[in-house]
Amino acid sequence: MGWWDHVLPAPKDPITSVTEAFLSDPSPLKLNLGVGAYRDDKGEPVTLECVRRAAEKISGCQFLESTKAAAKSKFVEDSVKLAYGNDFNVVREGRFAGVPALSGTGACRLFAQFQRRFYPDSRMFIPMPSWSNHHDIWRDSQVCTSTYHYYDPDTKGLQFQALMNDIKNAPDCSFFLLHPCAHNPTGVDPNYEQWKEVSHIFKIKNHFPFFDMAYQGIASGDLERDAIAIRVFLEDGHLLGCAQSFSKNMGLYGHRVGCVSIVSRDEKQATAIKSQLQQIVRAMYSSSPVHGPLLVSTILNDADLKALWEEEVKVMVDRLIRMRITLRRTLEELNSFASWEHITKQVGMFYFSGLSPKEVDRLQRDFHIYMTNDGRISMAGVTSSNVDYLANAIHEVTKV
Ligand SMILES: Cc1ncc(COP(=O)(O)O)c(C=O)c1O
Repeated sequence: MGWWDHVLPAPKDPITSVTEAFLSDPSPLKLNLGVGAYRDDKGEPVTLECVRRAAEKISGCQFLESTKAAAKSKFVEDSVKLAYGNDFNVVREGRFAGVPALSGTGACRLFAQFQRRFYPDSRMFIPMPSWSNHHDIWRDSQVCTSTYHYYDPDTKGLQFQALMNDIKNAPDCSFFLLHPCAHNPTGVDPNYEQWKEVSHIFKIKNHFPFFDMAYQGIASGDLERDAIAIRVFLEDGHLLGCAQSFSKNMGLYGHRVGCVSIVSRDEKQATAIKSQLQQIVRAMYSSSPVHGPLLVSTILNDADLKALWEEEVKVMVDRLIRMRITLRRTLEELNSFASWEHITKQVGMFYFSGLSPKEVDRLQRDFHIYMTNDGRISMAGVTSSNVDYLANAIHEVTKV
């Protein structure tokens, strides 16, 4: 027997395999609605103007040989302020520990490793459904996972009572992964009052909330508004964890820029937590790249660039909303008996269509339209020139 004869191919990733299938389709009609990154109305990836200007500003800077701790701490502080709010007690009192991470995925992975290190027998409760990689990240970190109710397939909205029941029925002091905004894949978020109730019950149960914030700004077009869930929990005095990603809201997918942070009781605890996170990083990949975090810090610390970024986020979100409105209107014109209201009720990058795996298959086979098997449609892939084609195809496969 040879060394690796027992190695079998890993199961295909449900998201990356959509792109593979799309790329191998020669049809000129083909449409990739699996992509989770923003595209403009021509279907092209976008480099934000604020990023271009920040890149010019830092060009020639001596960062290539530098792993300076000060620059990293600054980036973490800037990121945390964005999520927690500039004036929040936690930020003012330095009661957080954070490290730069390899984007949102890396941030989740670092937290999962940290959880494993200090609560080896704990489990992570993940919403049903969720971004599929959540299960893989916690599995590979040897932390067990369970799911909690979140989405109601009948209303294509939030199953609030079932969610509250699962939170209540979980053992005290459980870890919960929460999507603070633009839930992936459902596009369904609790409202302010519901977050207040969730936070309240977390307090009673002494659960630990871990927020995976991959889409700040992408739900409403307003960075502050999209952080409301985290602010509610902070106001209620929770010690929480947070993963942040700049892949979508700054279009920095390829740079892998993110941050993981944990709110602590006091500064002394923050120092201890930070040193443990740093040790996990050290053994995994030594240290994170500096160029991406420097771009982000440059934007967040320059009032003009920050304002430009906010405008550009709004432009992206307005386009996604416009496409939702057009898709809904076109489907209503084709079939006014069915309800398409949920298309515009859901928010963010994804429209969770409720299409069955059979219907998804037919869209792929007969119309060359590609999406994940669960019927998740990336609104980023929908443009003025393909929205009619998409609506007609959905109408065809859902027609009774
Ligand atoms: C909910 C959620 N978390 C984390 C990520 C990770 O994103 P990235 O690693 O590109 O920042 C994604 C990306 O699709 C996501 O949807």
